[in-house]
Amino acid sequence: MSTFTSEEKEAMKAEAGIAACAFVSSGMQIGIGTGSTVKYTILELGRRIREEGLEISGIPTSDATEKLSIEQGIPMLDWENCNHLDLVIDGADEFDPNLHLIKGGGGALLREKIVAESSGGMIVVADASKRVDVLGAFALPIEVNPYGWEQTKRRIESICPGPVELRGPDYLTDNGNPILDAHFGPSISDPVQMEADLRAIAGVVEVGLFTNTADVVVLAAPGGCELIRKPTARL
Ligand code: 5RP
Repeated sequence: MSTFTSEEKEAMKAEAGIAACAFVSSGMQIGIGTGSTVKYTILELGRRIREEGLEISGIPTSDATEKLSIEQGIPMLDWENCNHLDLVIDGADEFDPNLHLIKGGGGALLREKIVAESSGGMIVVADASKRVDVLGAFALPIEVNPYGWEQTKRRIESICPGPVELRGPDYLTDNGNPILDAHFGPSISDPVQMEADLRAIAGVVEVGLFTNTADVVVLAAPGGCELIRKPTARL
């Protein structure tokens, strides 16, 4: 994995987060992801609303995103009144050459997946440190039901080569569930099958593998921004 200074990383996050806003135009209903890269997307959308009269509305993927979006003047939708989003812009912890993702470092994976599956396209904003050949160096977040989480953990351990750790004794997602971080190492060569295998374990609420979901990665590197599009991209 490439190494960057924290200043370089922050500049790349801002670059990618802002560049992704080129996909957004008036009249759209959008999904708004979570994390320190999407933060710049939200700030830029707020600026365009104030300065350019952009008219959009959005569904947030976390309480933190909802708060920042409201502060920025982005009108919020709820699922009662919305059954489809034009697109979602979200971050990722890793992406591979097929644009399969690991997400959930910020704990919002369940809402992020509901939003991604309801969107007409998914744009991922990432800095160059997120690009990998094989997923798994970043510990895979798995949201589990509180009931019997210890047993769910043992079952995940039976298919994970490394340790599976509870994310802090008091950590709960916005949905009130614990997260288990599974240390696969860079070994998830078939993420589609792994996602299915993990989701088949009772007690697993959602897995941070997002396979065949992303269409485009807006990748910021020190030299500038690059768009990586899947051949079948919807956007
Ligand atoms: C939150 C996520 C984030 O999108 C992911 O962790 C990337 O975050 P950041 O942009 O801060 O690196 O999946 O659940």
